Amino acid sequence: MNPKKMAVLASGGDSPGMNACIRAVTRRALQEGIEVWGAMRGYQGLLDKNFRRLERASVSSIINLGGSILVSSRCDEFRTPQGRKKAADNCRALGIEHLVAIGGNGTMTGAHLLAQETGLKVIGLPGTIDNDIYGTDHTIGFDTATNTALEAIDRIRDTASAMERVFFIEVMGRDCGNIAIYAGVAGGADYVAIPEIPTDIAALCEKIKRGFSIGKSSNIVVVAEGDASGGADPLSQQVLQRTGIKSWVCKLGHIQRGGSPTAYDRFFATAVGIAAVEDLMRGASGYMIGFHDNQLNRTPLIETYSRKKPFNDELYRLLKLQD
Ligand code: F6P
Repeated sequence: MNPKKMAVLASGGDSPGMNACIRAVTRRALQEGIEVWGAMRGYQGLLDKNFRRLERASVSSIINLGGSILVSSRCDEFRTPQGRKKAADNCRALGIEHLVAIGGNGTMTGAHLLAQETGLKVIGLPGTIDNDIYGTDHTIGFDTATNTALEAIDRIRDTASAMERVFFIEVMGRDCGNIAIYAGVAGGADYVAIPEIPTDIAALCEKIKRGFSIGKSSNIVVVAEGDASGGADPLSQQVLQRTGIKSWVCKLGHIQRGGSPTAYDRFFATAVGIAAVEDLMRGASGYMIGFHDNQLNRTPLIETYSRKKPFNDELYRLLKLQD
């Protein structure tokens, strides 16, 4: 028997494509006659009983919007067992036994504990620009953020070439270098500093010096914010101390989180959103749905945050191979 009601929320750092996902969940559930309730501000909405009824029209014209129409937040109270019990009690008081939680590692942790401790049926969907979640090749928002970073790199290259400058461009990603690697390879960066591999300062300095000696007009270094050197500022300082070469730093910051999602992010968000509803209707719970090799891939929630996404050395090698 179909659930009568279902809740959907987006939690943690927002990412482009979350709205497309909320739309897909809503539309697919409504097709089955299921009432859909959007929890406002992520898990906080479950604690505050702050739900918004989602009708077909509520999710019209949002597939192209960044951010989240349900508003997102990080919720400390939900990190406690008492908070999760309160959240489940509040859901049950409204007749809600089924939940789709969209977000990153923190959201998957909360989803797992909520399902395990309270018996609510919960499916997680990977929404973060960082692409750092085990069990899925990509996360909702990663492709858009990478393209935004790429556009910035292209623009900076114009001025870097015109002024014959070295630029350190810092991108987001927390402890994961995926945005840096993808945008760095696609943007033809001269060096990419990532958390997964210790940055070889001597090699970086040599690279920059050699660039100028062979007549390059610019040097572009992409730095992941989680790089062990501390990011673009300290790295540029170290290069100055060792070589005397001055460089310019540009931190892309939250620009990477906004904007209209790419076709891939919208497609992916729609596919996993629909799958989540169909799986909940079958009585399934306790896993995250992502993509692996362009197929839906289901991973137990506990694995999504307790296991580390494998580092793909082949991608990083591309940087050296295109030099
Ligand atoms: O996890 C997404 C992310 O954008 C990270 O890349 C970044 O480190 C962090 O969130 C920033 O968080 P906040 O928006 O809370 O400053």
